[in-house]
Amino acid sequence: MRKKVIAGNWKMNNDISQSINLVKGIKSILQSTKADVIVCPPYTSLSTVQQLVNGSFIKLGAQDVSVQNDGAYTGEISLSMLKAVGCEYVIVGHSERRQYHKETNELINTKAKKVLGGGLTPIICIGETLDEREKGITDQILTTQTKGVLAGLTSSEVEKSIVAYEPVWAIGTGKTATPQQADDAHKLIRKVISQLYSWATAEKVIIQYGGSVKPDNAKELLSQPNIDGALVGGACLKADSFAAIINAA
Ligand code: 13P
Repeated sequence: MRKKVIAGNWKMNNDISQSINLVKGIKSILQSTKADVIVCPPYTSLSTVQQLVNGSFIKLGAQDVSVQNDGAYTGEISLSMLKAVGCEYVIVGHSERRQYHKETNELINTKAKKVLGGGLTPIICIGETLDEREKGITDQILTTQTKGVLAGLTSSEVEKSIVAYEPVWAIGTGKTATPQQADDAHKLIRKVISQLYSWATAEKVIIQYGGSVKPDNAKELLSQPNIDGALVGGACLKADSFAAIINAA
């Protein structure tokens, strides 16, 4: 039985004082949870948030990582820096990184390997655009992305990774995939993983859904057999709505 994992991707929101308020708010509503809970603040809030979540049910994640170890890479943040600040998870390949920073499956694969090599868990994002869905090539895109981002990972590395299915057309749009559409996509991703590795491995991988997850649709999405959690954007920025989604798991 896979555990549910709810992660909040704060994106480029919340300065330090807003971050403190949000984490304190979540902790005041929830004392413990059945699901694993992760918050992914912007880099500037990681240290502050770490101090607030340390020893609690909330784990810390980052939104990206450099493929470089150190050196002259202005603006980049290394895995060892994330590790030192207490991150246990790193989102890689978010569609906004693919769109605005031209990240490819190959680069995302390198980042996932980096994160796993450092003993952290990557949350590896994939998902089709509206254009791709309308052309009827969703399965093809998800198959290519899954193979690309997981290339060269060992079965134990894949089992430790989280895959996040985030249809691009559902992100920040208020248009959620139907529970059936999401579960179908997750089923396909799990099948591709089983073909690359084995069913035993595929059955262990946590596959999160992301894209306009809200308190009012979380329960139905999270009750689908192949949906093991949520990667939440907008609704994780308010303590009460993030807590409601966690409770729905
Ligand atoms: P929204 O929940 O705002 O649609 O964002 C989803 C997302 O991109 C999480 O990574």
